[in-house]
Amino acid sequence: SQRTLVLLKPDAVSRGLIGEIVGRIERKAGWTIAALELRTLDRATLQAHYAEHVGRPFYEPLLEFMSSGPSVALVVEGERVIEGVRALAGPTDPIAAPPGSIRGDLGTVVRENLIHASDSPESAERELKIFFPELV
Ligand code: GTP
Ligand code: MG
Repeated sequence: SQRTLVLLKPDAVSRGLIGEIVGRIERKAGWTIAALELRTLDRATLQAHYAEHVGRPFYEPLLEFMSSGPSVALVVEGERVIEGVRALAGPTDPIAAPPGSIRGDLGTVVRENLIHASDSPESAERELKIFFPELV
């Protein structure tokens, strides 16, 4: 089975949606939560995590937003969980995300789109090392 890194972003925490979103992940048959922690992300962690976006116009606002309050970091384990959580989250833009997906049902704007999930096995390995080095 696979492991993926999931972040419930500061908007999810401040809007009181931790239970709602974790519940959707937890209810998926065969997936288990291997780690879960409330954590305010510092710039160094976010710079490592979002290295692929350095130089993009949304990079600085993204780091500001992501460090603006506590997030929840989770490790989710299960069969094809990497593509599975991405599907559950829906596309980056909540307006384009279909009903039934987390971003489609609950999201507002692109930057504050509630959830991050690793997008490939390579990303998952890299991101798990950043957020949960003790588990890798
Ligand atoms: P993550 O799971 O958070 O990585 O989202 P993603 O993979 O769907 O999107 P991507 O990695 O391309 O971008 C990372 C994050 O940057 C997004 O989730 C948004 O929060 C933000 N972002 C991406 N594109 C834009 C954009 O065009 N404008 C703004 N304001 N934010 C963006
Ligand atoms: Mg991404």
